Amino acid sequence: MERITVVGAGHVGASVAQRIAERELAREVLLVDIIDGLAQGKGLDQWESAPVEGFDTRVRGMATYEETAGSGLYVVTAGLARKPGMSRSDLVTKNEVIVQGIARQIAEHSPDSIILMVTNPLDAMAYVAMRETGFPRERVIGMAGILDTARFRSFIALELDVSVEDVQALVLGGHGDSMVPLVSSVFVGGIPLDQLLGRDRVDAIVERTRKGGGEIVALLKEGSAYYAPSAAVVQMCESIVRDKKRVLPCSVWLTGEYGLTDVFLGVPCKLGRTGVEEVYEVVLTDDERAALGNSAVEVRETMAALVGGTAA
Ligand code: 2OP
Repeated sequence: MERITVVGAGHVGASVAQRIAERELAREVLLVDIIDGLAQGKGLDQWESAPVEGFDTRVRGMATYEETAGSGLYVVTAGLARKPGMSRSDLVTKNEVIVQGIARQIAEHSPDSIILMVTNPLDAMAYVAMRETGFPRERVIGMAGILDTARFRSFIALELDVSVEDVQALVLGGHGDSMVPLVSSVFVGGIPLDQLLGRDRVDAIVERTRKGGGEIVALLKEGSAYYAPSAAVVQMCESIVRDKKRVLPCSVWLTGEYGLTDVFLGVPCKLGRTGVEEVYEVVLTDDERAALGNSAVEVRETMAALVGGTAA
């Protein structure tokens, strides 16, 4: 890919830019931030790491969007982050205005691009980007499921003292406390989780996963997680840029899948060069289906607070 733009040069955005550059996923990575000098400084600093790390992806920072024209991908990370005690939804109206402005710039300068949303509240902000750009659902995708699943996998690996590589799992639903870690689909080296761990331990891990973002916010006291979120969205970038067609949990606009419409929710998707190339429907137990429905209700409640309105 010729050009990828990362919007927001905070911890998440800067980490995304650096990871993209180190993997050489594009010829050029542009980092945009309205705080004058922040993106320029971090972009230059990252580029100066290129001779040591051995990447040829040019990284540059800027405060406006003109030079981002023709980007194939925009990773949107700009917005306010949670403070301790705040829920992701508390951010909704403040970040709606920010994402609205960004989406308009993207639509104007790169009407054929794909948007990967990272700003919280994630599912509602993905909706705002789709609403403002008018892009089809294939090209507006929220990052949450990979992060939530990575947390789930990392906790299971710690508990069993096994390689993270051998822990397969899937977390569906909105990026909030109502997310749905699918215990029935966790396998460790092919062995179902319930053959390795008692129900109490599994329940504790599910609970820790649901609160995983908040655990980091409480520890950091300022800002929220960025190493795992940036790793997660760069996995999405790589699948798109290299047309790998990976099957990854992403937040997409549902049009009837799982019996749900007009809501962004995390479900397994195939990601390739054109964005979301397929949305998969997992067969769920009654409890899991009910939990996913609850999660959709939670996302819709957040969307209802949007000043710019919803289609639903
Ligand atoms: C997280 O889960 C900030 O929502 C982000 O860490």
